[in-house]
Order: sequence, then structure tokens, then C-alpha cells
Amino acid sequence: MSDQAFRAIGATTFLSPLPAVLVSCRGTEPGFDRDNMITIGWTGVINSDPPMVYVSIRKERHSHAQVSQSGVFCINLTDETLCRATDYCGVKSGRDVDKFAELGLHAFEVEGFGAPALAEAPLFLCCRVERVIELGSHDMFMAKVEQVYVRDSLFREDGSLKMADFELVCYAHGEYFALKDRPMGFFGYSLANEDVIRRRLVEPYEKKKDKKEKKEKKAKSDKPGKKEQHKDKKEKKAKPGKKKHAFRMRMQDAPVKPRTNA
Ligand SMILES: Cc1cc2nc3c(=O)[nH]c(=O)nc-3n(C[C@H](O)[C@H](O)[C@H](O)COP(=O)(O)O)c2cc1C
Repeated sequence: MSDQAFRAIGATTFLSPLPAVLVSCRGTEPGFDRDNMITIGWTGVINSDPPMVYVSIRKERHSHAQVSQSGVFCINLTDETLCRATDYCGVKSGRDVDKFAELGLHAFEVEGFGAPALAEAPLFLCCRVERVIELGSHDMFMAKVEQVYVRDSLFREDGSLKMADFELVCYAHGEYFALKDRPMGFFGYSLANEDVIRRRLVEPYEKKKDKKEKKEKKAKSDKPGKKEQHKDKKEKKAKPGKKKHAFRMRMQDAPVKPRTNA
């Protein structure tokens, strides 16, 4: 018998960490047809081939009606810059506010798909509902992933993804955490030799750390005075929606056009 001590805390949904994602959607009926985002923790992968995921949404959510009407939604992964927006979309309803406009965020329109994506997300999955299961508190929307788009700048030259640069956010028992800086391992690393470990887990991140430190030093020395900061803010406010967003598709080609949401 082990001398470890545990305390039973009851049957709860204490599965952690969970991805904190923004699910973007748009209904088809009047009163529901404004682009919306809901923060979702109850989400996951349920099949590889075909690629399938689920999101569980309470019936009373505005987005529940929207996804039910359109049969499609996008799952946008969230990074550190989107953490506050993620919380906001989890406490405000699209019934009452235009969350895109309130947050200064932009919808990204995938041609031929009936749900907006979040232009500021590092990655999003376009999902089509296959089945809805009523479970009690939540309805589980099981959906096929039709396409995945990844921000262009997150690819290396060889086409692989710079996962550490995604700076993803997750949710654990009521709090948001950042997946910081570097991976602790990679698939199969428990069996890898020292050379491979060094090449995959140490060298790339030493370079990254050097770069980051140099950038921070430069930013400190270039820091504008208060007057310039005020001017910068004013200029940014005056040109909403001017930011360019580039995504690269993960599976097959499909036409995409960016769209701003006023
Ligand atoms: C971190 C976090 C995770 C959440 N996860 C879920 C979820 O999985 N399912 C759900 O129905 N609501 C979830 N919520 C609550 C909704 O996001 C929230 O009620 C939101 O305001 C609903 O927006 P809507 O009315 O525009 O759909 C979560 C909220 C937060 C902050």
C-alpha cells in the first residue's frame, strides 16, 4: 500500500487542462444572423479518419441556436494575445452585444462556408455538424472537420509548423494558462537518442531565446515617450480593419477572402 494521501472530491468534470477555444458562428434566421463567438472548454477530438471533433453547448446559449440553424461553425484556437477576448466571449452573450466589434476583432470569411472564422486566431478548423446528442446540461455537436487554416507566419520554410510560436492558451479549473516558450518533449521522445533530443528540443529554442532577448532589449531602447504612445493609439483607432491576415490551408485548396466586421 502506498503512503500517498488523496482526498476524494466527488464526481466532477475535473479533466484538465482543456483547450480554451473561440467557436465562431452565424445563424440563418433574423435575430441570429450576426457573426458571434462563444468560448468553449467542452471540446475535443473524437475521430481521426474522417477528422471529427465535438463542442458541447448549453441550449440557452445564443450560439446554440446559431449553430443549430447553420449546421456549421469554426473552432479558433486562442493564443496569449486573445486570452482576454476569450474570457469576454465566455461571459457576454451575442444576443446582447456584437463581440467582434466590442473586441476590435475581425471575421474571416471562408468562401462557400456558412460560418465566420476569427482573423486574429493562429489556426481555425471549419466544422460541419453531423450529429447532435442531448446529454443533459449540454448538447454535444459532433462535427466533421472540412478544412484547417493556419496563419502563414507559423510555417517554417520546409512547411512544418512552429508549434512553440502558437503560444496557445488552455483552461484548468477556472484559470487560463499559457503553453510557454518550448515543448517538454515530442511524440516518441521517451525513446529518442541524445542527438535527436538536442536537435529537436534544445537547439531551436536556444536560438529563439537569444532572438527574444535581443528583441526585448531593442524594444526597451526604442520605447516611445507618452506623447508618441498617445499619437500611436489615436492612429490605430482611426484605421480599424486595416490589418492584413494571411492563412495557409492545411488540406486542399479552396478560395478564401478576408472580410472585416463593422
Ligand atoms: C473558459 C470558458 C469555457 C466555457 N465553456 C463552455 C462550454 O463548453 N459550453 C457552453 O455552453 N458554455 C461555455 N462557456 C460559457 C459561454 O461561453 C458563455 O455563456 C457565453 O456568454 C455564451 O455566449 P452566446 O450566448 O453568445 O452563445 C464557457 C465560458 C468560459 C469563460
